[in-house]
Amino acid sequence: MTNYPRTEKYDKHFLSQNFMGPNAVLMLDEITQSIELKKGMRVLDLGCGMGLTSVFLAKEYGVQTFAVDLWISASDNYKRFLQMGVQDLVIPIHADASVELPFADEYFDALISVDSYHYYGNNDDFFEKRLKSLIKKGSPVAIVIPGTKEEMNGVIPEALKPFLDDEGFATLHCMTWWTHILEKHLDDFVIREMDCTDAAWRDWLATDNPYAKQDVEMMKAGGGRYLNMISITGRRK
Ligand SMILES: C[S@@+](CC[C@H](N)C(=O)[O-])C[C@H]1O[C@@H](n2cnc3c(N)ncnc32)[C@H](O)[C@@H]1O
Repeated sequence: MTNYPRTEKYDKHFLSQNFMGPNAVLMLDEITQSIELKKGMRVLDLGCGMGLTSVFLAKEYGVQTFAVDLWISASDNYKRFLQMGVQDLVIPIHADASVELPFADEYFDALISVDSYHYYGNNDDFFEKRLKSLIKKGSPVAIVIPGTKEEMNGVIPEALKPFLDDEGFATLHCMTWWTHILEKHLDDFVIREMDCTDAAWRDWLATDNPYAKQDVEMMKAGGGRYLNMISITGRRK
């Protein structure tokens, strides 16, 4: 069973104010226990949202982190990085991964992406055409995505229809589906359900975020029977 001593150090109120879904720090804590991150590495934190994962990477591993997001501005994240004292290690960047990631080839020593990759990486092209060249060969890759326990092919279960839309649900897939998309790009490929799925959801549902309130109703309607959190790790081929 996984332990999460690093997550325990963070102020629960600060975390919950900045969640955009299931507890991203807890999930990152778990997934980074399966890869090697060393001080001084240059890490791409893709789809970092409010930057909680970037703060964690800088503080816990001393890595230089490029915090890339679309919905949250670089200025908004920079304020949080200052507040958390990681401004010298974390570089906030506003970019749309599906259009362009503005980095040099072989710039990164690791790729991390928590609860974001499913929005743009759920196709055969993204890794090969937009991401692969930016990451050095052999570098660790760790991706957490929300998914489905079985493949639903975009068909929303009747009980969850009041809470989900077709476009959002179409991004969710099972582990076999994701294996077909990513296994060919990664050595030492491992895909599994996150141990902390229930705990990460519990922390999110307890916040006063209006989206979380909606998700409480979805979980009451049986969301947990269909949805999971998937961990994918490996090394860039
Ligand atoms: C559910 S939020 C999760 C944020 C954060 N990783 C976390 O777990 O708290 C999904 C994030 O993916 C980002 N995202 C979605 N599409 C993106 C794109 N095309 N390029 C960059 N980021 C994207 C959004 O901006 C958003 O912050």
